Amino acid sequence: MLKLFTPRSLISTVRCTARAYSAPVKSLTVDGKTYPSDEWTNIPPFILDLIQRKLHKNPDHPIGILHDLVKKSMNGMGYTIYDEFHPIVTKFQNFDVLGFPEDHPGRSKSDTYYFNKEHLLRTHTSAHEHECFQDCKTPGYLITADVYRKDEIDRTHYPAFHQLEGARYWSRLEPNYLEKIQQDIDSIPKTNIIVEDPFRDQPITENNPKQTYMTPEEVRLVATHLKKTIEYLVNQVFENARESAKKAGSTEPYLNEPLKVRWVEAYFPWTGPSWEIEVWWKGEWLECCGCGIVQRQVLLNSQLGEDKISWAFGIGLDRIAMLLFGIPDIRLFWSLDERFHKQFKRGEISTFAPYSKYPGVKRDVSFWLPSESTLHCNDVMEIVRSHAGDMAESVEVVDEFVHPKTGRKSQCYRINYQSMERNLTNQEINVIHGNVENDLTTRFDVEIR
Ligand code: PHE
Repeated sequence: MLKLFTPRSLISTVRCTARAYSAPVKSLTVDGKTYPSDEWTNIPPFILDLIQRKLHKNPDHPIGILHDLVKKSMNGMGYTIYDEFHPIVTKFQNFDVLGFPEDHPGRSKSDTYYFNKEHLLRTHTSAHEHECFQDCKTPGYLITADVYRKDEIDRTHYPAFHQLEGARYWSRLEPNYLEKIQQDIDSIPKTNIIVEDPFRDQPITENNPKQTYMTPEEVRLVATHLKKTIEYLVNQVFENARESAKKAGSTEPYLNEPLKVRWVEAYFPWTGPSWEIEVWWKGEWLECCGCGIVQRQVLLNSQLGEDKISWAFGIGLDRIAMLLFGIPDIRLFWSLDERFHKQFKRGEISTFAPYSKYPGVKRDVSFWLPSESTLHCNDVMEIVRSHAGDMAESVEVVDEFVHPKTGRKSQCYRINYQSMERNLTNQEINVIHGNVENDLTTRFDVEIR
């Protein structure tokens, strides 16, 4: 029996496996709104199905449990919570208002799902910064939402995932505003986290310049508040995970090591300077959050006035939830299998007990590319997902060469088909794999070898 978190009508489509790549459609209708198609339309049906799931709003799902833990940790600190935003946004919200250059790769059809040239599935929660800065009546806000990107297919990548955005601002018109920021810094709860930050006292470097309208002291204070807030959050989440693991009887050595993080410089079009935090967890540096001091233009576009200074961050929730709950494959978050869902309870970080893993079926597809090929590896990923759905466990390029005489380019992709729920038959994989080959041939003019 499946536990129903979604309307029954969705189950059949979510689990449906061999569907043709979306044929050209006149329009797409989602939640009562119709989006006329054009040459930008590139959303396959299986992606549309995911929009309805809202995993971050399910308090008994690992993503929802993590979301609730973050909300609880930030309670009473002046942040308005936004977690109801619809995933369809405009190009303006997702890119333009944030100052993405016209040729930024994130804007391309091979990275982003478009309904048409104006509407798309948000690729990050920063798409809502503009409206939150306009709407928010408290010193800061938090946004949690599902976001969508065309991506590789493997254990940790899925075309839909979740982010938590945070932002905070101050007015320079407030008397003694610098002291106020310092007081706000002092009121962030202390942690025992070990922090490696070469930029804490000197946040401005040649590669990571400040905006001209801010003084070095303002940058130092705002950056310190930003970083301490993130360190506090990281500490809350990972300490909680550690406590749960200990309570459950685990004696793994990492449970007695202090939590360690490091800061590295980064670049985002709408922040400057910008950084990323990495967390040392179970022997690996985990990249989990981009952040920075918000570009003045974004604040002015939101009619916030010339007096404001602000920071923002964006944390990816799925990778963290995988670590905290011991979830080995990101596809499991989207599973409708009761064996998954019955393992999680609101407010608790428990360790996932894997149920039987069904064997996979590996198939290669090798082809010659036409001379002026536009085939992007994300297109191959997309075609495989369209036909295999969640049976696509991983797709990788295993060989690539140029013929020395003819100059023709050849590529070979290895696809591992595997289901979380049952054994696959060779026969059904033959049909799906045949459809993948067909799509590659008709849509990208490749010649199967
Ligand atoms: N939106 C960025 C991302 O998806 C993260 C970010 C948020 C960076 C806010 C800076 C400020 O990677």
